[in-house]
Amino acid sequence: MSLQSKSDADQVRVIEAAAAPTRFARGWHCLGLLKSFQDGKPHEVKAFGTSLVVFASESDGKINVLDGFCRHMGGNLAQGTVKGDSIACPFHDWRWAGNGKCSGIPYARRVPPLAKTRSWPTLERNGQLFVWHDPQGSKPTDEVTIPEIEGYGTDEWTDWSWNSMLIEGSHCREIIDNVVDMAHFFYVHYSMPTYFKNVFEGHTATQFMISKPRADIDNGTNYDDPNSHLSSDASYHGPSYMIDRILNEVNGMTIETILINSHYPVSDNSFLLQYGAMVRKLPGLSEEENNGIGSQFITGLEIGFEQDIEIWKNKSPIDNPLLSEEDGPVYQLRRWYKQFYVDVEDVTEDMTARFEFEIDTTRALQSWDQEIAENLAKGAPASADA
Ligand code: FES
Ligand SMILES: [Fe+2]
Repeated sequence: MSLQSKSDADQVRVIEAAAAPTRFARGWHCLGLLKSFQDGKPHEVKAFGTSLVVFASESDGKINVLDGFCRHMGGNLAQGTVKGDSIACPFHDWRWAGNGKCSGIPYARRVPPLAKTRSWPTLERNGQLFVWHDPQGSKPTDEVTIPEIEGYGTDEWTDWSWNSMLIEGSHCREIIDNVVDMAHFFYVHYSMPTYFKNVFEGHTATQFMISKPRADIDNGTNYDDPNSHLSSDASYHGPSYMIDRILNEVNGMTIETILINSHYPVSDNSFLLQYGAMVRKLPGLSEEENNGIGSQFITGLEIGFEQDIEIWKNKSPIDNPLLSEEDGPVYQLRRWYKQFYVDVEDVTEDMTARFEFEIDTTRALQSWDQEIAENLAKGAPASADA
């Protein structure tokens, strides 16, 4: 069939969306704040299509992550008890050590040789707990480790303010596109990027952005300090953990924040989004005032996340987004993201090679200002030329 013979209706763009991957990404995944697992109790974490148990050894406080279901007869270890450095199953009291080995069966003369369950590699960093997931079962390398955040744990910064939210009916890949999505900042987050650049390399994907607050489209009013601006340098380290360094100049103050945006898959159709922030304390302010600024800033970030979440919950997956020149490198970003879903030996050069792209934000800024001018003109017919 030739192109000419097609009617307009035949040429309508159709959304293509293959089923989401059923395997889970290889990489470090943040399970949450370390302290939430340090209360001496076992914790159930539903992740990677299964259930995990997280508990701290009594002797040294090390956090262990094991498969959640007991290899004896399937008891749920998270409902058990920590006994020494092992988790004791609630069903028949079999004990499982942090390395996965069965460390005792109180009613039996001996432990079956080779009685071992899956133990997950862990990393305790930045006051957070990470587990390594790899469908091929290999150990993490130093190259892909989670970087240490300078300042964390010192007096100069507040502690994490932390939140989590279960997103159902959506694959976690949906939130990755945000890295390159300049335009949604205008329409979803009421912010105007004046500079926007992406760099992908190896297992990292970065978004550099400078933005200012957006004026109201109807009346041109700025609710925030119109001279304020924000610079953000946000990198995914692997498939699911983003560190975002934000400098915000507002009302004559510079507020420095580290925002964490992380998630882990619960199933192939749901994920737990976790986000938090720490703020550099401003000199001359009391602890309370600093925490106040911190939590105020974090509330602002939460509003931002909720704006994104509303979109994610209601959008369709789309494998063939129809893009304009100002949309950013969505396809390249997805190629980068794919490296985490294939076997290591199938990772190709185009998934990890350095790639840079700067989006021209001029048109976006102009059209917003123009719309404001037009709307103002509607209210004041004398200046219709605005
Ligand atoms: S099922 Fe865990 S001890 Fe029996
Ligand atoms: Fe967003």
